[in-house]
Amino acid sequence: MIYPKNIIEFVKNDPALKERFNDVAAITSLNAMSSPQLHEDFFFEDYMLNEGHTQSRAIRKYLHFIASTYSIFNEIFQYFPKENLNSTHKDDVSAIGTAPFELIYHAMYLYCLDSWGVEGDVIECGTYKGFSACCLSWVCDYLGRRLIVADSFEGLPANSTDPYYKKGDFCGQIDEVRANIKDFGKIEQVDFLKGFYNTSLHGFDRPLCMLWMDVDLYESTMDILTNLLPHLATDGVIISHELFADRDFTDNGLLKDTIGPSKAMSVFFAEQGITYQAMPLENGSGLVVPCKADEKILMSCDHVRFVRDRCRHSDAVFTQQERDIGHWQHEVEKLMEIYRSTVDFKIKQAVKNILAKLGLYGCD
Ligand SMILES: C[S@@+](CC[C@H](N)C(=O)[O-])C[C@H]1O[C@@H](n2cnc3c(N)ncnc32)[C@H](O)[C@@H]1O
Repeated sequence: MIYPKNIIEFVKNDPALKERFNDVAAITSLNAMSSPQLHEDFFFEDYMLNEGHTQSRAIRKYLHFIASTYSIFNEIFQYFPKENLNSTHKDDVSAIGTAPFELIYHAMYLYCLDSWGVEGDVIECGTYKGFSACCLSWVCDYLGRRLIVADSFEGLPANSTDPYYKKGDFCGQIDEVRANIKDFGKIEQVDFLKGFYNTSLHGFDRPLCMLWMDVDLYESTMDILTNLLPHLATDGVIISHELFADRDFTDNGLLKDTIGPSKAMSVFFAEQGITYQAMPLENGSGLVVPCKADEKILMSCDHVRFVRDRCRHSDAVFTQQERDIGHWQHEVEKLMEIYRSTVDFKIKQAVKNILAKLGLYGCD
């Protein structure tokens, strides 16, 4: 797992915590760790959520960041235009191509990169109507980074590798995208780069800390990697949509030569002799970190899912009733247990009545 640097330092500086969470204290750099032991059991996450935030400003700030960012992403999702009225493909009927629970990983990585002092802008290749750009623009605003939004703003180009996609699919025109980011994001944080990547990225010369791609096609991915990878900071990360956990990853953390972006990345890295480690995130996204061959990449961030689930009360689509259930869950479970275990009809009926009155559960 990787954590923000100031959280690791907090653990290191406290002898009791250092002993209790020695694998966290052993993290010495962003990508490599002296001990190859992965922290798997969520003990540290439990600690952060239960005690840690009362003891450490760094933990408090980090948890607040994840919870509030996830909440903002959900609010954007709630109010962002839902329908693509000019749909040309069965996949672009919806105006949103990604999801809050996918993009919260980008937010967490950016927060971590920031804490470890990795410099550079964030670039999004593949914007469509601007949903992911809106979300990332909030994170960039929080961290004081520029977000470069690079797209044809005419949809996909023609391609000769994947008959599933056609020219013009996933089109978001620049005025439409600009208006969406103005309404739901932080437009003042965004620079636009318009054009097809085989020309628009030529001469690109800004340092990058994150290269985020959602471009569907082999050719587009090749153009992006060719032009942008030289600008990615050491310790910078690539995140790509269309890297599927059950399709695109080998057991030893490489990408398979399958189709589209995954194929392009594995071919490009092999041709260029670039070593890397890859792992799936969520919703068809994957993380790819270029690194030295002997480095063990530990940028796993499974705790984001854990923290996010624990922060669900900030979820915009979480109803008041669900919140109440969350609040009373423990008591409700005790009542359910009584209901299940007793053979006394009167007690069963009484429990059922209580639960029905609370409007929480039916016991059938
Ligand atoms: C699936 S959509 C992106 C979805 C978006 N990230 C979201 O959250 O809704 C793919 C985008 O990639 C862009 N794209 C793909 N290949 C491109 C290329 N070669 N040059 C410019 N834009 C390209 C398309 O114009 C389209 O906007």
